Amino acid sequence: MLTILAISGSLRAASTNSALVEALARNAPSGCRVTVYDGLGRLPIFNPDDEDERTPRAASELIDAVTRADGVIISCPEYAHGVPGGLKNALDWLVSRDAAVAKPAMLAHASPRSLYARAALAEIMRTMSFALYDGGLEIALLGKKPPEVEAILAEPVNVLAMRDALAAFAEFIRTR
Ligand SMILES: Cc1cc2nc3c(=O)[nH]c(=O)nc-3n(C[C@H](O)[C@H](O)[C@H](O)COP(=O)(O)O)c2cc1C
Repeated sequence: MLTILAISGSLRAASTNSALVEALARNAPSGCRVTVYDGLGRLPIFNPDDEDERTPRAASELIDAVTRADGVIISCPEYAHGVPGGLKNALDWLVSRDAAVAKPAMLAHASPRSLYARAALAEIMRTMSFALYDGGLEIALLGKKPPEVEAILAEPVNVLAMRDALAAFAEFIRTR
């Protein structure tokens, strides 16, 4: 059984990216379990002085979760043509250790825009030595309210897209 950790880069209560990672967790194909990381908002601002024995508990929990996972999926919004600070902060806690090194990772997108953030996130993750899967998943949820988001995510074509993307990512993980 593969364990995949899914991270949403948005803290918004009605976040479309969070809805997408929750839907991925519900639609994981057999042989693959997706768990959603929900600690982004509890992480202190990264400070290199607070590493090693001073690492805050919330950061240690993130580091352990990434270390234990067979793969990571990130779905995040774009803010001012960049990666949201909260997500970048989480990634910064992972830089000076082994958690991300050679860890398979896939990007999912809840917006058909966000091209700057996609490129920046891919660059950051490759620099951190994640093994970034070339494929991905895009389901356009931009600007939709929760009931409509859930309806779109329940459409058979989108359920199939999520299952196919997860199955392909699982294959990428297994064959590395
Ligand atoms: C402060 C702020 C800045 C944004 N900047 C951009 C941007 O530069 N490019 C873009 O495509 N969308 C931008 N957006 C729109 C968000 O990326 C978009 O609404 C996203 O789907 C929100 O994700 P969420 O539903 O998971 O919170 C911005 C939104 C906010 C709140």
